[in-house]
Amino acid sequence: MASERQWWPVAASDEVVPRHVFQATLLDRPLAVWRADDGTLNVWEDRCLHRGVRLTLGTNDGAELICRYHGWRYASGTAGCTYIPAHPADAPAQTIHNRIFPVREAFGLVWSAAEAPAGEPSRFDPAATLVLRPMPVAAAPADVAAALGAEIGAAPAGLHLAAADGTAEYFIQAAGAGRSIIRGLAVPEGAALAQLARHNAALSGLRDAIEATAPPVAISTAPALAPAPPGYDPGAPGEAGRATPLRLRVAERTTVADGIVQFRLTPVSGQLPTAQPGAHIDLALPGGITRQYSLLNGPGETAHYAIAVKRDPASRGGSAALHDRVRVGDVLAASRPHNSFPLRRDAVATRFVAGGIGLTPLVAMARALARAGAPFAFHHFVRTEGELAFRKTLAALGPYTPHVGHAPAAAEAALNTVLAAPETPQNLYLCGPPAMLDAARRIAAANGWPEARVHFEYFANEMPATRAGAFTVALARSALTVPVREGETILAALRGAGVPVESSCEQGACGTCVVRVLEGMPLHQDVCLSAAEREDHIATCVSRASSARLVLDL
Ligand code: FES
Repeated sequence: MASERQWWPVAASDEVVPRHVFQATLLDRPLAVWRADDGTLNVWEDRCLHRGVRLTLGTNDGAELICRYHGWRYASGTAGCTYIPAHPADAPAQTIHNRIFPVREAFGLVWSAAEAPAGEPSRFDPAATLVLRPMPVAAAPADVAAALGAEIGAAPAGLHLAAADGTAEYFIQAAGAGRSIIRGLAVPEGAALAQLARHNAALSGLRDAIEATAPPVAISTAPALAPAPPGYDPGAPGEAGRATPLRLRVAERTTVADGIVQFRLTPVSGQLPTAQPGAHIDLALPGGITRQYSLLNGPGETAHYAIAVKRDPASRGGSAALHDRVRVGDVLAASRPHNSFPLRRDAVATRFVAGGIGLTPLVAMARALARAGAPFAFHHFVRTEGELAFRKTLAALGPYTPHVGHAPAAAEAALNTVLAAPETPQNLYLCGPPAMLDAARRIAAANGWPEARVHFEYFANEMPATRAGAFTVALARSALTVPVREGETILAALRGAGVPVESSCEQGACGTCVVRVLEGMPLHQDVCLSAAEREDHIATCVSRASSARLVLDL
């Protein structure tokens, strides 16, 4: 239908105020219209994916919309689900996202369309148009359009009417069963106030006449709208390897501390996929190398991704390529965000302990908790004062303690204090170089932190690894048996057999390639799994089997 591809006003701009959710309708279907703190306007289907509750009953926290019923969170921009309280330790799949509709703001109005719209909202010039006061009418849109068309001499033409003399146009917006809103635009003629008063008087008279004779209206049974196509290629679920479908332009390089540069990456076209706090992307860099970088920004910021990279003197090429060869304006290929280090948002309090540049995923987490008003404390260990990246940002978010220049013994003593067991249950997030993480995990365990409350992400896997010995993996769900030869990884053997498994770091650090083990004895060589997770999971990129056969849940 032509009307499905037309822009319709669904709200006045000043009705969509910060931290609120406005209920609107588009061609009889309910919408949730809300504005994020960064100004992004969202027009979504007014329905939570979980139990169908109206999202207009929920909370706008400035970057995410939270369903009132079971607390599912959706990110501004993409409507991607960022958090499911019933599964606090898991990152929701990227395929879970609400329906979004095109949105435009013009003439002091918020416009939307059921399908990709053709043309502009109005033929009038936005710089020289008078926006008429909206007029609610207790009558069905078709009745309002018929009466208004007769009044202004317009031919019957649906719910968008133009005055015969070309000086005004009107849009009839459905506003629930038997109710409509007339929104109008007019060419300015003399004093604006007097012209507005004239239009208002005319529309008020029309409203009274319509309401005096309007018949009762049946509730619409129109089918649900199709979602607007996303602005990015979400890729096939379960796609193997380091697929890099995103194209990101380097919009800004900023030195944020000694040897640390922040890169602001914007999409070449469309919208970026939702990222949850703790997520990272794979970046394809000059020289044919791919590296993983945690995102500094969090849900709802889909206009850009931000990463910070320290130039490592022992760089294997990644940080050197970014620092020395990547310039503003360059375009890099990137993966969709992965999250193997999800933030639980259900703890009474949270403690963050970062070593050096390991603070990056924790910055995104601290931002999310600060926005939600959830308490946390942030500790940052560095060698020199100049390495304290994001010091002001973190201090503004909540309690922040820098720890500078400790020798190894002093660092352990400081960690012992920082990691004193809490009186009430807290979550602990650790990220940094391997030696520091090993020490922090040991101290946390000695101080009585339950293992399930300690979450960690290593920069790299420095454990010695072997590829000796052959074995087989049986795939329980695919009914396949795959031999893994000496010198070959499980991941490579699976891919060779046509079984797709996602991966990222391929060194046992990020957790992307982890699968469940149903039978057999894994030989763990990763640094991403906790002792409890090692009971029944394996990182397929590095770990092997010490039994002749493993059965995997694939
Ligand atoms: S791909 Fe990163 S742990 Fe296997």
